[in-house]
Amino acid sequence: MTSPHPVATGHEALIGSLDLPAKVALLTGASMFTLRPEPSIGLGEMRMSDGPTGVRGLTFTGGRTVALFPNATLLAAAWNPASAYEVGRMLAEEAVAQGIHVVLGPTINLHRSPLGGRLFEAYSEDPLLSGVLAAAYVRGLQDHGVGACLKHLVANESETARHTVDSVVDEATLRELYLLPFEIAVADADAWSIMAAYNKVNGTPATEQHHVINEIVKGEWGYRGLIVSDWWATTSAAPAANGGLDLVMPGPGGPWGRHLVDAVTAGDVDKAVIDDHVRRLLLLAERAGVLGEPRERQAPVPAPDSPMRREQLTRLAAEGMTVLKNERATLPLARGATVALIGRHALETIDMGGGSAQVNPPYQVSVAEGLTALLGDAVAVTDGVEARHRPVPAAAGFAVHPVTGEPGVQVSVHAEDGSVIDERHAASGVAMIGIDDDLPEPPHAVRLRARLPQGGKLQVGGIGAGAWEVRVGQLVERFELTLDSGDVGEAVLRPPGGTTLADAEPGDLLETEVTLAETAGRGRRGLYGLVARPAPENVDAVVARAVSAAQDADVAVVVVGLTEEQETESVDKTTLRLPGAQDALVAAVAAAARRTVVVVNAATPILMPWLDQVDAVLWAGLPGQEGGHAVAATLLGDIEPAGRLVTTFPAADEAGPAWSVTPVEGRLEYTEGAFVGYRGHDRGPAPAFWFGHGLGYSTWEYSDAAILDGQGHRLAVTVTNTGGRTSREVVQVYFRPTDDRRPVRLVGWQAATVEPGESARVEVATDPRLWRYWDETRAAWTPLPSQGRIIFARGLGDVRATLELSGR
Ligand code: BGC
Repeated sequence: MTSPHPVATGHEALIGSLDLPAKVALLTGASMFTLRPEPSIGLGEMRMSDGPTGVRGLTFTGGRTVALFPNATLLAAAWNPASAYEVGRMLAEEAVAQGIHVVLGPTINLHRSPLGGRLFEAYSEDPLLSGVLAAAYVRGLQDHGVGACLKHLVANESETARHTVDSVVDEATLRELYLLPFEIAVADADAWSIMAAYNKVNGTPATEQHHVINEIVKGEWGYRGLIVSDWWATTSAAPAANGGLDLVMPGPGGPWGRHLVDAVTAGDVDKAVIDDHVRRLLLLAERAGVLGEPRERQAPVPAPDSPMRREQLTRLAAEGMTVLKNERATLPLARGATVALIGRHALETIDMGGGSAQVNPPYQVSVAEGLTALLGDAVAVTDGVEARHRPVPAAAGFAVHPVTGEPGVQVSVHAEDGSVIDERHAASGVAMIGIDDDLPEPPHAVRLRARLPQGGKLQVGGIGAGAWEVRVGQLVERFELTLDSGDVGEAVLRPPGGTTLADAEPGDLLETEVTLAETAGRGRRGLYGLVARPAPENVDAVVARAVSAAQDADVAVVVVGLTEEQETESVDKTTLRLPGAQDALVAAVAAAARRTVVVVNAATPILMPWLDQVDAVLWAGLPGQEGGHAVAATLLGDIEPAGRLVTTFPAADEAGPAWSVTPVEGRLEYTEGAFVGYRGHDRGPAPAFWFGHGLGYSTWEYSDAAILDGQGHRLAVTVTNTGGRTSREVVQVYFRPTDDRRPVRLVGWQAATVEPGESARVEVATDPRLWRYWDETRAAWTPLPSQGRIIFARGLGDVRATLELSGR
């Protein structure tokens, strides 16, 4: 097969000067995040770094200190392309400062089932919102010389069996929904690269998708960029190279190299196919300034803890925060009122999801710190119930390096003969072993040691697969921790933990040794950590203490949420219920408090069985390093939480159009078709909160809805701010076709900031890509008949004006 859609880049002489092995060598990474340089053609080393919530750098954990941004759903909830652009620009600054050329983001898979563990990284359930925000983010990066990487192409909406699952999606749904954000970000922002996913799509691995990559992306869309595999996703040489994959990551090993050279020699892959892959790589290198004369890439980079970053990150987080309920004008909180701030998430606010999106921030502001900074003595903080099932690494204050006395853990890595092959200080209590490190010999065992500055009843133990021995004082405990799947991904992203209780004296030494377990085919490696924490308290006692705190204050603010156990790469949720006894805690506080506000510290839908009992609910996402300041600013109204939901919140488990994420015989059937999220809920059942819902801090009247063109593609409406403060309204326009085989859809939106008592005429230009459908019989896009209803709504649960379209 020849390359079906070769791209013209003007690099033919360079390509012609390389022989086949030299060309193929360029098509696999040189390391985890770098590509091979080729000095003979002026190609430098290209470097990639994970995004999308910070530029972590060339290692998977640890690494340098970088700014931690609000997560994708929180950013998206501002419905503001200008903010998405600003985030892209800031990420470009962070990338340039580290010599990074490509940031591996944005993630633009859709929120299909709310159980998806990785939804926190992706914008929305809606393809238009996702695509428009992605295009702005990509422009923000690329206008400043750093490449974006749209991921993960395609139908990668959940994590269960992610390396083997076959997402079964009909062609119309694939194009109208799951490919649409990619199409928009390619057409409107010319993203320089795209990442092919782990999963299969309709039986063919995403890394071998001739149909998606060659026919649609490179063919129909005329895409000129580079298709890179997700890390370790590629399993073949000829089928992947012929399928349109340009680059295998990571390297230096992998399935291409000499296998691909052999495949070309055997005639299974045309030389022109290889040339096209190299051409696309060189185009990316040229765009990123790594080909030819080195380009001066510099930007004044604010430090991650600079006043400028603090302001930006607070504002970006606060803008997306969303008022889901607000009765008796409970929010914003009155200054002067006394506040009982309750909950584990108030003290240990979760600022990011788990997995490859994690970064190492300079600091993280908890809600307790943020609110106390604004209210001082008027706020009393009370810890809540445990929210995690697995043991967590030793927090600051519970472990210090036994030699240096610095917070953290002493780690030594040993070869099989017991010799020390590496020594580290793990400030976070965990160390990644055998992943980013260049160890001289294979690791066999790890010792983790710390002094315990606080005595008392402690929970101590270890995290990571292997045979453990834990010693503190007289206590010696031995246990074996095993992996469910044996997969290196599990060993890194959700390693098992084991603990025991110990009575410790202040200054006691906690010493552990673990003989590492083998991961499937990849030796001994994974994440290892030390556990040292106060012993868990009895739930009733915790709840009783919270109730009493609530009774003593004018208002109780309970912060609840998920943790990186639910919102993470590599694992899906099984329920939308809050973990632990958090629901019981909220109900008990609400019964006792004069007023109750719940702050939800989670990126994705949760169930709220206590909703009727509380006065207000503020959804705060995973707010990044300035999280606590942003929550405090919104609770007090210093910044309006003007967010609108980006995902529908179902009323109960299973009460949504797409639920199970567990493949059956390897297949995950997208049977709901295009009826995902609000599009599906529109046919029932009604959700708890619709996509697009969000009250802000004002009230609005809509009037004079009008069609500005013949077809209903340009619309206008007047919005009047009937509340008492300046506020931002997001005017959302939906179209519900008369033909009920086609779902209701968001066709456009426009925001307006209006003073109290004032009105604004808001025009909405809808997106032409929502006014078509894929006709499978003709295998072609077909105009959507303009018969149906135009809906102006604040989420479909709050419709403000409708117009009938009767044309064709
Ligand atoms: C993730 C990608 C990420 C890559 C590199 C993979 O596990 O799916 O999103 O960019 O790792 O860390």
